[in-house]
Amino acid sequence: MQVAEVFQDSAESWETLIFLYNSALKEVGTKLEILNDEFVHIHKYNPIEYIKSRIKSPESICKKLKRHGRDTSLENMVRYVNDIAGIRIVCSFTSDIYGMAEMIGKQNDLTVISVKDYIKHPKESGYKSYHMLVSVPIFLSDRVVDTKVEIQIRTIAMDFWASLEHKIYYKFEGNAPEYISRDLKECSEIVSMMDAKMLQLNKAILEAKVQQGID
Ligand code: GTP
Ligand code: MG
Repeated sequence: MQVAEVFQDSAESWETLIFLYNSALKEVGTKLEILNDEFVHIHKYNPIEYIKSRIKSPESICKKLKRHGRDTSLENMVRYVNDIAGIRIVCSFTSDIYGMAEMIGKQNDLTVISVKDYIKHPKESGYKSYHMLVSVPIFLSDRVVDTKVEIQIRTIAMDFWASLEHKIYYKFEGNAPEYISRDLKECSEIVSMMDAKMLQLNKAILEAKVQQGID
């Protein structure tokens, strides 16, 4: 059963909604940890630097619905707000992002609903990140509810940029002076350059280690 069907019944509560999305975060979080541990076990390499997860605040959920001209019913929340549950995976290198995305895509019990590659196609702001909207089955005592989770995958450098840009955006309530937006975009290009350079450097280190017979 889709999560939106649960809330067609107006008897369901806000607490049920939060419970379902919290459970979805736990399921996906554990999955990602296992994938990471397996990777370390096989390749002796850790593709994930850290993971952050959050439930969107009721204020932000309502604000988003209003922005889209919709009533703030529970059904509308689960139907139209795709990022009530969000997980951010921060990796070392760009190549790790695509590796993670591929592993996530192969998980039989996750359904990938959509993918947005803002690394290949950055946003006007300069924002770069790889987004996957997935749904995960939550097994309750009397039903199985498919619940949506937004997964954002990015490098440390991309995350650094996005955090700062987010703060500035809020400081100016979306109307930052033109030179600030321009400088931020320039920083985003520097971030990409740094990511490319670090990836290259990492490859060179790995090759040098093989040549010198270092494990
Ligand atoms: P919202 O942007 O959340 O309204 O949803 P959307 O359906 O337009 O999805 P989109 O892929 O544009 O953005 C989803 C999430 O990505 C946002 O909630 C932010 O966390 C992040 N994001 C998108 N664009 C930017 C940006 O320009 N700067 C920063 N810092 N984060 C962004
Ligand atoms: Mg948006």
